[in-house]
Amino acid sequence: MSGHPDIDALVDRARADVASARTTEDIRAVAATVSGKKSPLAEAGRRLGTLEPDERRELGRALHEARSTIEALIEERRSTITADELARQMEADRIDLTEFIAGAVPAPAGRGRLHLVTQTRDSLEDVFVGMGFEVAEGPEIETDWFNFGALNIPPAHPARGMWDTFYLDLGAPESTLLRTHTSPVQIHLMETAVRTGGLPIHAVMPGRCYRRDTPDARHLPVFHQIEGLVVDEGITFADLAGTIEVFTAAYFGPDIHSRLRPAYFPFTEPSAEFEVTCTICHGAGCRTCSQTGWIELGGCGMVDPAVFDAVGIDADRWSGFAFGFGIDRCAQMRHQIADLRALIENDIRFLRQF
Ligand code: DAH
Repeated sequence: MSGHPDIDALVDRARADVASARTTEDIRAVAATVSGKKSPLAEAGRRLGTLEPDERRELGRALHEARSTIEALIEERRSTITADELARQMEADRIDLTEFIAGAVPAPAGRGRLHLVTQTRDSLEDVFVGMGFEVAEGPEIETDWFNFGALNIPPAHPARGMWDTFYLDLGAPESTLLRTHTSPVQIHLMETAVRTGGLPIHAVMPGRCYRRDTPDARHLPVFHQIEGLVVDEGITFADLAGTIEVFTAAYFGPDIHSRLRPAYFPFTEPSAEFEVTCTICHGAGCRTCSQTGWIELGGCGMVDPAVFDAVGIDADRWSGFAFGFGIDRCAQMRHQIADLRALIENDIRFLRQF
């Protein structure tokens, strides 16, 4: 108590005002009214000059004490408010880790699997690697020479109509295109072998191909083939037929067989289409195989000497066979997929069956 009822009243009012402040804003406003320049406290200070020296000294000390008390009250209240606000903010920012356990976030994605086409490609490769073949790959964008010319399909040859395709304008002097089959990889392998002394060749070449086909149950404009090439001394048509038969039984099962029917391909002579026992009716005849009991899988034949000439292989010393067939078609036959388009629709209910 200061002994000055007015000053005591000032301090009491300030105490009540400070106690009522709830926020940083409140305490700033309260501080201005109870201790700022326009506060009663400051006004009383300004009146001191009009007093007698003794009275002035005594009242001055009382005012000084009152100011100290009030400022201490303000500081104490300010720090309480700051601590409260911080605590409230932290509570608002808190992350409840148990929410994760309760499933508030989506369950982690299931483990994926290889697409059926990739699985099929892998198992086809396994069969051929088991028979002594190597696996090779080539580019999906080819020049006219690799896709056609070196394969004995000159410009304007009617056989080009069998492989109508997507041409690309890359500004190169020679026309470039999306490959229509994996046969150009044969040319790459043979050219490399000639350059590096790499003959003989026993290789399979899987990969993606493109054709200007309208999609339907048995065709996709983007599809997959696997090519085979053997170039060695003394290779005959019997080696080709034997290889196809061993592959067919190994991949489709011992009750599925192969047969060759004469056909024409510009890059093989003689050429054949190879067919395998219909996997739906097992040879009895059904709608899928048009009652023949057989389903066509691909083409094959003995490498044409014109192709050997194109890559610089001596056709008097070396002979060889080649084959090519659809990977997607294999998957379709092995798993009895009614419509090939299911392979590219990305319907997870279909894909997770395999
Ligand atoms: N490239 C041919 C096609 O896509 C398939 C083919 C036929 C490949 C005969 C060959 C072959 O290697 O010898 O229709």
